[in-house]
Amino acid sequence: MSSKGSYAFLDNKPAQQEMAREILAGLKTQPKTLSPKYFYDAQGSALFDQITELDEYYLTRTEMALFDTHLVDIAQHLGGNVCLIEYGSGSSVKIRKLLQTVTPAAYVPVDISDEHLQANARALHKDFPALNVLPVCADFTQRFELPAAVADMTKVGFFPGSSIGNFDPQGAQRFLENVHATVGPGGAMLVGVDRKKSVSVLEQAYNDKQGVTAAFNLNVLTHINNELDADFEPQQFSHVARYNPQLGCIQMFLRSDVKQRVEIAGETISFVEGEELHTENSYKYDPDEFLALADSAGFGSLAQFSDSRAYFTLYLLQAR
Ligand code: TRP
Repeated sequence: MSSKGSYAFLDNKPAQQEMAREILAGLKTQPKTLSPKYFYDAQGSALFDQITELDEYYLTRTEMALFDTHLVDIAQHLGGNVCLIEYGSGSSVKIRKLLQTVTPAAYVPVDISDEHLQANARALHKDFPALNVLPVCADFTQRFELPAAVADMTKVGFFPGSSIGNFDPQGAQRFLENVHATVGPGGAMLVGVDRKKSVSVLEQAYNDKQGVTAAFNLNVLTHINNELDADFEPQQFSHVARYNPQLGCIQMFLRSDVKQRVEIAGETISFVEGEELHTENSYKYDPDEFLALADSAGFGSLAQFSDSRAYFTLYLLQAR
């Protein structure tokens, strides 16, 4: 084992034009929608870190406790010469737990926010000097290239925080298929998934009393103003989050408090008073539902771990 790991940064950040095109396309559909990946600029990532510590937001705390109890077992399942690929690099506390127990040969964080990605990756490289830290700036909803150095390692995808619930079920299947293509047969995936439960517990988790979730949701507008030539007024919108029992997901919206017009990249988008701009879904899965989804993407279950309240499940999947 080498005492000094390497550090290299691969930039595959999508062009600004692509961002403008995607955002405008969403704002021209009815109902209007915004792609949730734009939540995570530096400010959005910082606000999300605050969400994870809220009393109402049980997800992070519950998943962390599952790590504390089961990571040794998970590390044994995975074996040696592991390349750990983290989809989104916003979960530095979780990844540190994993790196200490799984001790992979390489760590590949993949994130669309290059500032946050590189700040986290550099800090990790400092704290784990023997580890190869190979950040990739990319949109992980699309296929991306892995650094050549990890070719002969066992690839293990890591997707905590029930972020998989932020795809719709079809998107989640496509994502899992992409992970399957990246890790290859014999590769694995560790994924944390929030479960269906009482509607009031679910709705409180996305409507915290301090308004941090509201600030996080509204920040997407500020992010778009900063990245593109746009003039959203975030104070003219309100945060809305409610459970949709038909779809099995929490749905997040920004409600336009007034009739207003917004200029974005040279185009004008109009809102009527009370119009809801859809920003995010957070799907909740019972284990049978999630395992069927994983199976359809080529993954079998190696192990699964749940808390005593049955709020959250950690799945260790293996690629066939
Ligand atoms: N993966 C998180 C979840 O679905 C993301 C999230 C938490 C989120 N709170 C949010 C997304 C508020 C948008 C708005 O729980």
